[in-house]
This record gives sequence, C-alpha cells and structure tokens, in this order.
Amino acid sequence: MKIFKSKILVLLLTMVLAITFVGCGKINTMSRIKKNNKVVMGTNAEFPPFEYRNDKGEVDGFDPAMAKEIAKELGVELVIEDMAFDSLLNALSSGKIDFVAAGMSVTPERLENCDFSESYYTASQMIIVRKDNTEIKGRDDLKGKKLGVQEGTTGDLEASEIENAEVNRFKKAIDAVLDLKNGKIDAVILDASPAKVFVEKNDDLMILDEELTNEEYAIAVRKGDKEFLEVINKVIRDLKASGKYDELVKQYIE
Ligand code: ARG
Repeated sequence: MKIFKSKILVLLLTMVLAITFVGCGKINTMSRIKKNNKVVMGTNAEFPPFEYRNDKGEVDGFDPAMAKEIAKELGVELVIEDMAFDSLLNALSSGKIDFVAAGMSVTPERLENCDFSESYYTASQMIIVRKDNTEIKGRDDLKGKKLGVQEGTTGDLEASEIENAEVNRFKKAIDAVLDLKNGKIDAVILDASPAKVFVEKNDDLMILDEELTNEEYAIAVRKGDKEFLEVINKVIRDLKASGKYDELVKQYIE
C-alpha cells in the first residue's frame, strides 16, 4: 500500500513538472518586453527603402522608423536583429526576436506560422531585365528562362510557378541584380520599391510595366500574441491618422 501511494505521488509530481515545462514553452511577449526593457525586431537589411544599412552602418529605412514608434509606444528600447530573410519566421517562433518588420507580405502559408498586423503597404512583384534584352516583355516570356530571386520571398514563390524556368535563389536581391547585369541570368523578380532603388543605380537595367502580384506588407508576431499585436495595430493606425505615416513614406519611399 505504501509503495502504491508513493508511485501515485511520483506520477503526480511528474505531471506537475510536465505542465510547468509546457507552460514555459509559451513566451509571454508583453511581460518579457517590460522585464527586459527592450523589444527585438527581426529584419533582413537588404531591401531598400524598407531596410538597408545607412552610411553609418546602422539598419535604417521605413520599417525601422515604424518599429521605433512601436518601441516608443511600449516605452522600451528597440533592438534590431539583421538576418537572412528566410530565417525570420523561425527566429520569431523560437523567441529570438519579438516581431518581424521586413517588407514581409501576408501569405496563406505564413499565416499558418505567425499572426500579422494590419497592412501598412501595398506592393507587387515586378520583372527587372537588361535594357538591351529583346525577348522579355512580360510574364509569358519568362518561360524556360533563368530567373533570379531572393530566397524564401514571394518573388521566389512567383518565379517557381513559371513553366520550365530555372530559378536561381540568392540570399540578397542585389546579388541577383548583379548576375542579371553580367548576363548570368535573364530576369529578376523583385518587389517594386527595392526594384526601383536598384534600377535607378544601374542604367543598363529596366523594370517592366506588368505587375505580377498584389501583396500587403504587414508586421509578423508569434501566433496568438494578441495583446502585443494590438499595440502594433494601434501604432500603425495612429501613424496614419496623425499624418506621420505619409511623412515616412515621403522620407523613405517616394
Ligand atoms: N515582400 C516579399 C516577401 O514577403 C519580400 C520581402 C523581402 N524583405 C527583406 N527585408 N529582404 O516575401
């Protein structure tokens, strides 16, 4: 009887411990932010004008500017982690970062792994080609061609759907642009704003008129992070209502 009792005790203890550990696995973002006095943004600073390194080597752009407003609203310091675009959502789930601000488009696949804020920008995928190219006038001409994209982006998804195309995936979109310049690939598929920035600096390149997609940029948080998401949505709404949003668009994008 005594042995039986102690077995039950051990069993109960194990259950309590198991529940405690499972509980710890869930990150309470708001209390962590308050406790550490900082909020951590994840981005990939290879995407001007939304994020890039400025002359001082700091991560700058529209997204960091918006993130500063989020930190201000929370009354804490903003820390920025710069990493590969395709590792951002893992870094978010594992708790390395608290949110993603990276010109990230809302997609059904991403919605399975994170929650998104309200949209803060409408974008589309565009085709960049060399000016001297005679064959590529639009999406239909990309069949069987060598395409360049940034790995894990919606441009990558789009390119992967083009019949018989050879998709070359780069960690940085600028490297795809460089390979286009030197003739290693035939076209690059990239979001409109960074495409404009890169093409303005390279007069041998041009952007075709056709818009391949219609996408919404939003900030990503961990699934179920409701309270934190509400703060972010409030900041986006306040920025729009106060006119500060338009100022940031003028300062960074237009
Ligand atoms: N909008 C595209 C996507 O969500 C590309 C974003 C790339 N962003 C970056 N910071 N490199 O897939």
